[in-house]
Amino acid sequence: MLKSANNGKGSLIMKKILVAGGAGYIGSACSEYLLDMGYEVTVLDALFTGHRDAVDERASFIYADLADREKVFEICRAGEFDAVMHFAAFSLVGESMQVPSKYFRNNLCSAINLADAAVETGVKAFVFSSTAATFGIPDEVPISESASQKPINPYGESKLCFEKILHWYSQIHGLKYAALRYFNAAGATEIHGEDHRPESHLIPLILQTIRGKREKLMLYGDDYDTPDGSCIRDYIHILDLAQAHEKALYAPESGHYNLGTGNGLSVKEIIAAAESVTGKKVNFEVAPRRAGDPPRLIACSDRARKMLNWQPAHESAEKIIESAWKWQQKFPDGYAK
Ligand SMILES: NC(=O)c1ccc[n+]([C@@H]2O[C@H](COP(=O)([O-])OP(=O)(O)OC[C@H]3O[C@@H](n4cnc5c(N)ncnc54)[C@H](O)[C@@H]3O)[C@@H](O)[C@H]2O)c1
Repeated sequence: MLKSANNGKGSLIMKKILVAGGAGYIGSACSEYLLDMGYEVTVLDALFTGHRDAVDERASFIYADLADREKVFEICRAGEFDAVMHFAAFSLVGESMQVPSKYFRNNLCSAINLADAAVETGVKAFVFSSTAATFGIPDEVPISESASQKPINPYGESKLCFEKILHWYSQIHGLKYAALRYFNAAGATEIHGEDHRPESHLIPLILQTIRGKREKLMLYGDDYDTPDGSCIRDYIHILDLAQAHEKALYAPESGHYNLGTGNGLSVKEIIAAAESVTGKKVNFEVAPRRAGDPPRLIACSDRARKMLNWQPAHESAEKIIESAWKWQQKFPDGYAK
């Protein structure tokens, strides 16, 4: 099933993929997708926030921290990977405002070790998990790739800096890369779902509240300039993200892509959709706005649709929530620790 694509410079065959951060939420689902497509996957993860049980059983697993430069080089030399997918980062915005050093050290310094090893071992593609947080408070929505990037926290800044590092590595070393800026990753596959500890994402929090695992959901701000007063976000299913990663391996050139559905949904609309999927009420309380929460974040993903020939297939909120609900019911305590 493996593809061979013509990148304008001859045929490109991809087989062996290193997935850094493949024990995490998005990396595990992406590994599953790649394995289903016939790729060979090696997961590298230090299990800081991921789970050993989230590593797909068909993948090889290497327990390692990207901070260990020698080990990262050893792994890349031995693995002879065709491509690297880099999901391994810290991503709690609030924590990044308290301990920026943790974010810059991991999301930049450790990531540089991986990029250097990718260059040395001649990988044909480097796919990087970037984020809508690189845009900060956008000047206009939907947000296109050319919108100005003015992050408002160290997390977003660390991701933007690494995008720039990849740009220079492509200019200087010829590293071919795709920086994929996800908006709100959501949903689950049959076997891989969201188990962040602590959880900070809306859909799992809503579903945990419905299941009685949490007493109530906090809704931060209902006085925004949006139709129902709550913040609007663009929710993208992890399987659609996985598909974009696979397509990015064959991108015609290095570049940045925004990944979202282009449909903005408010917090209240997501609560209503969760109530309709589960048939249960969500106990929520309105709290003051959180500093730095933009009212609207919606992606313009035309570039990914055109250049990667990518098309999200799970666009409805109900479908996304249904998949997450099924996963939470199947794994009520998440992954074993
Ligand atoms: N979840 C979202 O909505 C979202 C949105 C935009 C961008 N992102 C980005 O996508 C990526 C994956 O997000 P996620 O939600 O799956 O996060 P996650 O925390 O579930 O997964 C990250 C994985 O990387 C591993 N890791 C971190 N630092 C490492 C290191 N130095 N060495 C080895 N392993 C390391 C962790 O143990 C974890 O398994 C992150 O880079 C995140 O910034 C996520």
